[in-house]
Amino acid sequence: MKTLTFRRPDDWHVHFRDGAVLRQVVPATARDFGRAIVMPNLVPPVTTAAMAAAYRERIVAAVPSGARFTPLMTCYLTDGTDADDLVSGHARGIFTAAKLYPAHATTNSQHGVSSIDKIHPVLGAMEKAGVPLLTHGELVRKDVDIFDRERLFIDRVLEPTLKRFPGLKVVMEHITTKDGVEVVRAHRGRLGATITPQHLLYNRNALFEGGLRPHMYCLPVLKREEHRLVLRAAATSGEASFFLGTDTAPHLRHLKEAACGCAGVFSALTAVQAYLRVFAEENALDRFESFASLNGPAFYGLPPNEETVTYVEKPSVAPEAVEVPDEGPIVCLLGGETVEWSRA
Ligand code: DOR
Ligand code: ZN
Repeated sequence: MKTLTFRRPDDWHVHFRDGAVLRQVVPATARDFGRAIVMPNLVPPVTTAAMAAAYRERIVAAVPSGARFTPLMTCYLTDGTDADDLVSGHARGIFTAAKLYPAHATTNSQHGVSSIDKIHPVLGAMEKAGVPLLTHGELVRKDVDIFDRERLFIDRVLEPTLKRFPGLKVVMEHITTKDGVEVVRAHRGRLGATITPQHLLYNRNALFEGGLRPHMYCLPVLKREEHRLVLRAAATSGEASFFLGTDTAPHLRHLKEAACGCAGVFSALTAVQAYLRVFAEENALDRFESFASLNGPAFYGLPPNEETVTYVEKPSVAPEAVEVPDEGPIVCLLGGETVEWSRA
C-alpha cells in the first residue's frame, strides 16, 4: 500500500458562508488544511476590517477543539472601499488580502467593482502597503460569451492593472483556461494562481452528462478538454506560481437543484483525495507537496506548516453530503464515489 506524507496543506480559496452552514463546513476544511484564505462574499459582504475581525471570530468558534486551523481574511472590494481601513486592517493582521469581484460576475457580487478604474486609488495603496489583490478573473457582459470571460478579463482588466501597478501582487483565483496559465507564467513571481479540483477532474461535458448536472456548475464554468489538460500540467509541474485553492463553495442541495441553480462545488471534504487522484494519474505525486503545501505560503510570504498529514492508497467511499441541521444537505464533490486515497 502506497503511503504519502506531506506537510499539512493550506487552502488558498474557500467559502465558509455564515451561521448554520459555517458551523458544518469549517470543520470539513479544518480537518485537512492548516490555513485557508476566506472569501468575503457574504450577505452583506465583508467590506471593513471590523466586519472581517468579527467574521474571523465566528469562524474560529466553529473550529473543532483539537484542530489547529487559522482563517486568513479578505476584504471585499467595492467602488467605495476605504483604502485606509484596508491598509490598516492589513497592518493589524486582520486582512491578508483583498478580493476583486467584478460586479455581477458570481454569487453575491452585486456590490462588486463596477469598473477597475473606480478602485485605482485603492490598488495604489495596496501596492504601497504590500496587500495582495485576489481576482475573480471574468469579464461579464451580455455580449461576451461565457467561455471567453477569462480571456477577456486577462486582456482588458488584468494585464493593464499589472502594468499600471508594477509592485502589486496578484492572484488569479480558480484559473480555468490555457490563457490563464500563460499569463501567470508570463508574470512569474508577482502573479500566482489557484486551481480547483473540479477544473482538473472535469471538462464542460460533465455539465451535460446524460442531462443537466447542477452539482457540476460553478463559476468560472468548466471549460474544454484542451484547457483542462493545460491546467493539469501546470498544477503538477511544481512551478511556484500554481497552488491549491479549492473554491469550496457550499450551497444547500435545493438551491442547486433548482430552476436557477447556484454556482459552486462543495469540495472541502474530498478535495485532497481529488487532487491526489490527479497527481497520481499524472505520475507527479512527488510534486504534490509543492502545489498543496509550499507554493501558496511562499507566495504570501508565510512559513509552510510544520505538521504533516499522511494519506494511504486505500480505496474508500466519499461521503455523499454534509447535513446542515434544519436546512438540508450540501452535496460533496465525488460524493458516493470510490476515491483511491484515504487519510491515514
Ligand atoms: O462557483 C462559484 N461559487 N464561483 C464563485 O466565484 C463564487 C462561489 C460562491 O460563492 O458560491
Ligand atoms: Zn470562490
